Amino acid sequence: MRKKIALVGGGQIGQNLAMLAAQKELGDIVILDVEAYVNAAKGKALDLMEMAPHGNYDANISATSDYKDIAEADVVIVTAGKPREAGMTREDLLAVNLKIITDVAAGVKQYAPKAFCIIVTNPLDAMVYAFYKLTGFPKSQVLGMAGTLDTARWRAFIAMELGVSVGDVAGTVLGGHGPDMVPLPRLTTVGGVPLTEIATKEQIDKLVLRTREAGTEIVKLFGKGSAFFSPAWSAIVMAESYLKDKHRVLPACALCEGEYGVKGLFIGVPCLIGAKGLEKIYEIKLAEDEKAQLEKTITSVKKTVEETKL
Ligand code: APR
Repeated sequence: MRKKIALVGGGQIGQNLAMLAAQKELGDIVILDVEAYVNAAKGKALDLMEMAPHGNYDANISATSDYKDIAEADVVIVTAGKPREAGMTREDLLAVNLKIITDVAAGVKQYAPKAFCIIVTNPLDAMVYAFYKLTGFPKSQVLGMAGTLDTARWRAFIAMELGVSVGDVAGTVLGGHGPDMVPLPRLTTVGGVPLTEIATKEQIDKLVLRTREAGTEIVKLFGKGSAFFSPAWSAIVMAESYLKDKHRVLPACALCEGEYGVKGLFIGVPCLIGAKGLEKIYEIKLAEDEKAQLEKTITSVKKTVEETKL
């Protein structure tokens, strides 16, 4: 029997998730959206079924507004919520998206209590915390998609700046999904060569800043709405690592219980993702300046999480 992937939210990111999950044949796909939007979601599902002959995939793709239809899903990816508009911070979305996540958590808890859940809705670190608290799911089953995207942006900008293949750029970004996230130049390499040896300090500073502001750069260009291709791909690699037990080590937003000195908060950290979900968090020995940067991002995440009052 095929695996089942439930996509809660069938907007910009949701539709790209559906397309990628189909193309990768991760399983059958159910898109869940609100009643007012369900016909649009059904249209997208049908369009993707009609793409299958050329896309060369077998998958049943459907849409619904009824949580019963996500029953027994293996993976749930949540993008339900409002995206940013120009001039907004991710935190400006907190009140409206917390209400939505509260509904979603209830539906997923009732109908797909065993699913590996990936939260994408912003403000990410607070929304994944809220989903975890509201469902009571084990921490191995709930991750936020942020570090995977932030690291993709870091790698992309390095490749663009240095004119090298992006596949050769390896590195990681720690911390919250906001402007004080922590890219780690000291541990970034290009084909095994340390970034710090092939880029100047000015270049690295510029790359760090661009990564921190990458989401905002796109929101400014769109005017309304936020990035969707790269967030979708980032969530898909996490889902794929779980479904295929790939044991990929991906930066993701995970519940820390002492790691990096953090207790009870979801923070972006390097995670081993396999068939048991979050199987391990890797702790990196950080330099003093890196520790100070991490402290700053933890303080910001804590502040937003406190506003959820959960
Ligand atoms: N249940 C299910 N779906 C919902 C609900 C709900 N309670 N509330 C809203 N939605 C749906 C909307 O109808 C819409 O189709 O969520 C979808 C969101 O899609 P977009 O508005 O296109 O937003 P998108 O760009 O996909 O971003 C979604 O991810 O990266 C974050 O900041 C971004 O919070 C935003 C989320």
